[in-house]
Amino acid sequence: MTRQDCIALDAADPLRVHRLQFALPDNLIYLDGNSLGALPHVVVERLHATLSQQWGTDLIRGWNRHWIDLPTVVGEKIAPIIGAAPGQVICADSTSVNLFKLLAAALQLNPGRTVILSQDDNFPTDLYMAQGLSALVGEARCELRQVPEAQLLNSLNADTAVLLLTQVNFRNGRCHDLQALTAAAHRAGALVLWDLSHSAGAMPIHLDSWHVDLAVGCGYKFLNGGPGAPAYVYVAARHQAAVIQPLTGWMGHAAPFDFDQDYAPGAGMLRFLCGTPSILGLSALDAALDLWADIDLEQVRLKSQQLGQLFIALVAAEPTLGVLDLLSPAVADSRGSQVCYEHQAGYAMVQALAEAGVIADFRAPNILRFGFSPLYTQFVDVWDTVVQLTSLVSNGTYQQPRFQQRGLVT
Ligand SMILES: Cc1ncc(COP(=O)(O)O)c(C=O)c1O
Repeated sequence: MTRQDCIALDAADPLRVHRLQFALPDNLIYLDGNSLGALPHVVVERLHATLSQQWGTDLIRGWNRHWIDLPTVVGEKIAPIIGAAPGQVICADSTSVNLFKLLAAALQLNPGRTVILSQDDNFPTDLYMAQGLSALVGEARCELRQVPEAQLLNSLNADTAVLLLTQVNFRNGRCHDLQALTAAAHRAGALVLWDLSHSAGAMPIHLDSWHVDLAVGCGYKFLNGGPGAPAYVYVAARHQAAVIQPLTGWMGHAAPFDFDQDYAPGAGMLRFLCGTPSILGLSALDAALDLWADIDLEQVRLKSQQLGQLFIALVAAEPTLGVLDLLSPAVADSRGSQVCYEHQAGYAMVQALAEAGVIADFRAPNILRFGFSPLYTQFVDVWDTVVQLTSLVSNGTYQQPRFQQRGLVT
């Protein structure tokens, strides 16, 4: 493999045209779209129109003219990306807030069972929201049980109300077999709640045909909705009528503008709304989702795996990089769209890479995380990243004191 071979792979890439739809800075390689997706040009135009034509001109009339249905409209654009038929996805709030709603819903749907079973290295907010619910209603009604990944199947039992998992692990990139674990949970009489934050937009997902009950995910990673973009909620049609989620805000009411004294849940997915949606955030995500209209997620997954395999092979072929320990599965099918390595100076290395024009990610305590966004990551980016990494490791550049300073966000 040579740099020229990578350029040839990019030229033959059926997804290459999509890169042009993003505002990527010159001379920068961005391998962090699994944390914050890049900015699509259409989002700039849309936000400008939302501000000047809608808010600026329509003022409050904007609600009826453009905004009130946006949570549903955006949810329906996310639905095909996660394999959901219409009427089962709505866009609202943050992933954390939606986890709370759906964990409470799962306990209602599975009365007599009290355990939320999760993995001890699940994304912290998933665990924190379960802990918060447990503290609110008491352990007798809701107990979070966290077990190592290898013990998940054996821990499913007659107490398990819901299996709460993230499809792709944010630290090591391991990808669960969502279909098999869903089936195992169902055999034990439990429901499943999947967090799709690191998988939606990076691989095909078939929530309906895999009989998933509940799911949530972020709008700002592979869906490119922008910093703090609203999240989404999936509730299988068969469960919707039986659930009243606990955050019974007026936007989830059957008739918000009747201003009744008492809560009555809205129809279908509307009951999963809470308060007034953030229209700027929703508008940005709505525009960003138009990019997916003609994208084949099988192709996205294939390219994601090829990028990851190339990266692993190039690092393995470079003796200088033998100091890095591969943390992610080497087998592409067991991995999401990221490749992670461990090194005690991981933080400094990621900082030094950024100065060299490559943005990757660091996760405590020692993980270098490289995310591949198949819509805009190129094969040549992978090549150039390994060149930069080799250079800073062999020269020891990363040991300079300025690369040790930590910001609040890492
Ligand atoms: C798996 C997972 N869930 C949830 C979140 C965050 O959710 P929120 O939208 O509440 O910040 C993240 C953020 O990186 C994540 O990786």
